[in-house]
Amino acid sequence: MEPIDELSLDTKAILGLQLPTDPRWVNLAEKSLQDILTDHAYCEQKAATSCISLIQRYSEKEKLVTALAPIVTEEWGHFRLVLAELQKRKLKLGRQRKDEYVNQLLSFEAKGGSEEGRLLDKLLICALIEARSCERFKRLSERLEDTYLRNFYRRFMESEAGHYTLFIDLAETYIDKEKVRKRWKDWLEYEAGVIKSLGVRGDRMH
Ligand SMILES: [Fe+2]
Ligand SMILES: [Fe+2]
Repeated sequence: MEPIDELSLDTKAILGLQLPTDPRWVNLAEKSLQDILTDHAYCEQKAATSCISLIQRYSEKEKLVTALAPIVTEEWGHFRLVLAELQKRKLKLGRQRKDEYVNQLLSFEAKGGSEEGRLLDKLLICALIEARSCERFKRLSERLEDTYLRNFYRRFMESEAGHYTLFIDLAETYIDKEKVRKRWKDWLEYEAGVIKSLGVRGDRMH
């Protein structure tokens, strides 16, 4: 089997994502290392921040709080690893950019409706961002020229893979499984459209 087929198979079977990342993205990312590492660092910061927000908002949900508390530490640890990598390479942590990918996902989030529906969307957005990040890290870990960075990204890929399933599990803890599955399918379809609309840019993770 060709590596491309294997990747797209993985993307669908493991992560459920509908659209594999354009293979040209890795080459572009490698050419703008300071930008991609900066963007990656902020992705980790946002992952930590959104877990903190979920804990604040749903403090009465014991399982959610217990599951997400250590993820905050882990994501912040990821931020520190990326920061150290920038510094080691004498590159600078740049400014945080407008995150078009996340903003487009947020525009699909249920704003009104039931409290249950809002919780479901918040958890599924996190699951989706983890899944796509995992897929992008996988691409980097397989195709970067730099062997050190390939290994660096393999470790991130492994840890984000566990996060995406955790958010789905949490959704299924509080909401009927059939509802979760149905809404997850809507999200996967919507996300594929977002990825398509953003085009291929080497200075961003998504
Ligand atoms: Fe992370
Ligand atoms: Fe994560």
